[in-house]
Amino acid sequence: MSREASKKEQALCRFSTTRFLRCPVCEASLRLPQGAGSLSCKNNHSFDVARQGYLNLFLGAQNSQYDRDLFVARQKVFAAGVYDPLVAVVAQLMDRLNLKAPCILDAGCGEGSFLAKISEYVGESKLIGLDLARDGIRLATSHGAPVMWLVADLARLPLEAASVDVLLNVLSPANYGEFRRVLKPEGTLIKVLPGEDYLVEIRERLPGLTPYSNQEVLGKFVDQIHVEECLPLQYHVGVTEELWAAMVQMTPLSRKREILGDRPGRLTIDLQILKGSWTES
Ligand SMILES: C[S@@+](CC[C@H](N)C(=O)[O-])C[C@H]1O[C@@H](n2cnc3c(N)ncnc32)[C@H](O)[C@@H]1O
Ligand SMILES: [Zn+2]
Repeated sequence: MSREASKKEQALCRFSTTRFLRCPVCEASLRLPQGAGSLSCKNNHSFDVARQGYLNLFLGAQNSQYDRDLFVARQKVFAAGVYDPLVAVVAQLMDRLNLKAPCILDAGCGEGSFLAKISEYVGESKLIGLDLARDGIRLATSHGAPVMWLVADLARLPLEAASVDVLLNVLSPANYGEFRRVLKPEGTLIKVLPGEDYLVEIRERLPGLTPYSNQEVLGKFVDQIHVEECLPLQYHVGVTEELWAAMVQMTPLSRKREILGDRPGRLTIDLQILKGSWTES
């Protein structure tokens, strides 16, 4: 069996036991009939599992500022271990929840490295990685991680209400109405946002940028949800020529402007990890 065929077989196997996907057209439940290659609803809307092993549940046209080159660069940055400390903290937070076979959704998972790394920490679980950008999700399948990869809109999640135990939202837009709907009442939202010094060395080399502030994003989270933890995480990583090139390429801001100046000796990773739920404990 070719590698792609086996990826599709594995994906079909995962989707066949899934009971929480819903049709993006009519919102009826989606099921994978035995032996079929596509999921369908009672109204006969049908969605093929792609040969790479992902499911496209997004009905609109692809129109993303994130293209394949950017996602390839982001994958290199993850592979270099730049976000390993973040993965470790989030995995620890999840471990402390003590959940049995949880359903974990990464909404805005990009090229999937974060969730693929998380999958190495969690035991039995259902993992869903979802992003609007098909290029990102196609690359995500290359990790070979036990994840259901979906092209879908996080503002219209193709998931049943109260189906998710932990929702991860890493450096991506949020839709709190949808997040609340799909989370179980006791479910947990973990959001990661950039701190004010996140990749400051890149920002300093892009002329005309105003300093970044996360106050608005932070304020929206605090307004919406009962905050249980707010963990700052700041560290530095050394930068090789190769890592610098990938860092610059994965930054959408650098598409529109030329980076001025030499490669810095190190990069600042400055993040805020927020954990909350809609049920006060
Ligand atoms: C800065 S990237 C972060 C990706 C990933 N979490 C990571 O840390 O590498 C933001 C991601 O959000 C995705 N995104 C933006 N709007 C979205 C939407 N409405 N639904 C799903 N994904 C979306 C983009 O396609 C992109 O992959
Ligand atoms: Zn339907």
